[in-house]
Amino acid sequence: MKLAIKLARKAKGYFLKFKLHKIFNPIAGFLPAVGYLSKLSSWLEKTQKPSFDDFYVPDRVYDRRYSLYETIISNHLNDRFDYLEFGVAAGVSFKWWVNRVKDPGCRFYGFDTFTGLPEAWNVFKAGDMSADGSFPDVGGDSRVSFYKGVFQETLPGFLETFKNENQKVLHMDADIYSATLFALTQFGTRLRKNDIIIFDEFNVPMHEFRAFLDFTGSYYIKLKMIGAVNNYYQTAFIVEETPYQK
Ligand SMILES: C[S@@+](CC[C@H](N)C(=O)[O-])C[C@H]1O[C@@H](n2cnc3c(N)ncnc32)[C@H](O)[C@@H]1O
Repeated sequence: MKLAIKLARKAKGYFLKFKLHKIFNPIAGFLPAVGYLSKLSSWLEKTQKPSFDDFYVPDRVYDRRYSLYETIISNHLNDRFDYLEFGVAAGVSFKWWVNRVKDPGCRFYGFDTFTGLPEAWNVFKAGDMSADGSFPDVGGDSRVSFYKGVFQETLPGFLETFKNENQKVLHMDADIYSATLFALTQFGTRLRKNDIIIFDEFNVPMHEFRAFLDFTGSYYIKLKMIGAVNNYYQTAFIVEETPYQK
């Protein structure tokens, strides 16, 4: 064992000394993607599946996510909760929740640049998915507030006055790793038992899934899968245990 560690240290030294990135860089981007796909596959194999799970379906039908939301509302949500969406764009999913949930005590918070992705993701460039800077039309519903800018700038200030009293739904739909991880970690110690986290692109290995792994691994929060559609594209979890519960 000691010899293996010694050899690994030597190899690392040689890698840096001889600038071997010049050889490995062309495949270096591809290797982590395969690694995370493999991690996703093995994570799924050992994770207990919920009864609401359509795996395996041959095609992704995006509107299936609404049946996931309905399941969450029927089986896991109190009448009164706070809904926080990270990645609102033109408000398709956000408006669904506002129109579906009538309780006057619920609050809906939408976070986005509203000018598109702050960095490239997948085939999309920075600035794609833009809502032209405007907020979705929610018909003047006074339960709704929008926060414009990158989460990294808007969330810390928001959390200074946010009353962490009601059950929460965090809807992660920013797509990219950095944004998803940032938003999750801001809520890390504020999560309470029975809070819900929905991922809109959970099965994208290097982004939402990687953020999920890094977050749960760093905060020791136990999440239980409660529903999934489109081969785990849209996947929802409930907080089972958190060390931060008061
Ligand atoms: C896929 S779209 C959201 C789609 C929307 N939920 C729907 O159902 O139509 C992703 C959004 O995340 C936003 N986003 C990504 N990273 C962000 C960040 N760090 N701060 C703020 N918004 C971000 C983008 O501006 C984009 O509008």
